[in-house]
Amino acid sequence: MDEEFYHEPVLLNETILYLLGKTGSSKDAHRVYVDCTLGGGGYTKKILEDTSEDTRVLAIDRDVYAVRHTKSVLSEYGSRVIFSQSNFGDIKKIVSDEGLETIDGIVMDLGLSTYQLSSEAGFSYQKDTSLDMRADKSQQLTAADVLNTYSAQELAEILYKFGEMRYSRQIAAEIVQQRSETKFETTFQLVELLKKKVPPRFLNSDLSRLFQAIRIEVNNELENLERVLKDSVDLLSEGARIVAVSYHSLEDRIVKNALRADEGLRVLTKKPVEATEEEIAANIRSRSAKLRAAEKNSEKKLSKNKYRQ
Ligand SMILES: C[S@@+](CC[C@H](N)C(=O)[O-])C[C@H]1O[C@@H](n2cnc3c(N)ncnc32)[C@H](O)[C@@H]1O
Repeated sequence: MDEEFYHEPVLLNETILYLLGKTGSSKDAHRVYVDCTLGGGGYTKKILEDTSEDTRVLAIDRDVYAVRHTKSVLSEYGSRVIFSQSNFGDIKKIVSDEGLETIDGIVMDLGLSTYQLSSEAGFSYQKDTSLDMRADKSQQLTAADVLNTYSAQELAEILYKFGEMRYSRQIAAEIVQQRSETKFETTFQLVELLKKKVPPRFLNSDLSRLFQAIRIEVNNELENLERVLKDSVDLLSEGARIVAVSYHSLEDRIVKNALRADEGLRVLTKKPVEATEEEIAANIRSRSAKLRAAEKNSEKKLSKNKYRQ
């Protein structure tokens, strides 16, 4: 870690209100929540603050720096936090390895932490760093591997599907051409390549798309999201909630469809909740945030739904 860990939580109050729902009854004792994306610990801390002393949080992040940092900032909560450096796509295994059965609420705040963007290699196009982009540094595949070894067709597909990029084929062809002369090693090589292909007024938005696309591929982000949404429903206790905050349309679409499609869930947010102008002014990252939430149906409602078909 070269800089201090920092992340300003987005939609914090709204998210935790949706997650906890009604609290304060005796049924609330011994609750367990899962924070799938611990990051700087903002959501986990708020859950701990807003619940009783016997409530615990299973706090997951695949990034070792996030877990290391939050272990120290949340130390005052002792055994109320169970840390897990793992991939939330494996939520069923993580929960069962901890000896837990049902869960009283699951929250995920997708994308990157401010620390990852500012201090971990590869994520930002504004700094010249090595093309890494791995959230979990024990993983093999890096962004440089994707750029140096994938075929032109595979690259074009990634840019189109995960970055919704115009000219995906031309950019993929340029990547393949350029690497035949010099292998990709640093982020600014990619920035220079795009400068040649994109008019200046589109450069920043296309750079965001290009970096997003490669990052999604390196970290298998969309597949992990689909898995965690699907598997969460089985883990939730009756009336428990799932809350997801996403930052781009690909993630939001997956969340929206997964919550709607599951007959075990009742969607609580007809439209996604977004940040207020005040929050956006204070934290620009909240500008694209979309919060969606759903509640696990009771068994009675579930069987009623089945008869209706
Ligand atoms: C936006 S930050 C979360 C910030 C957090 N809510 C807070 O208040 O500080 C997203 C975090 O999710 C983690 N993450 C993303 N995908 C993950 C995955 N598949 N499994 C586990 N953690 C993941 C990232 O490493 C990052 O630390």
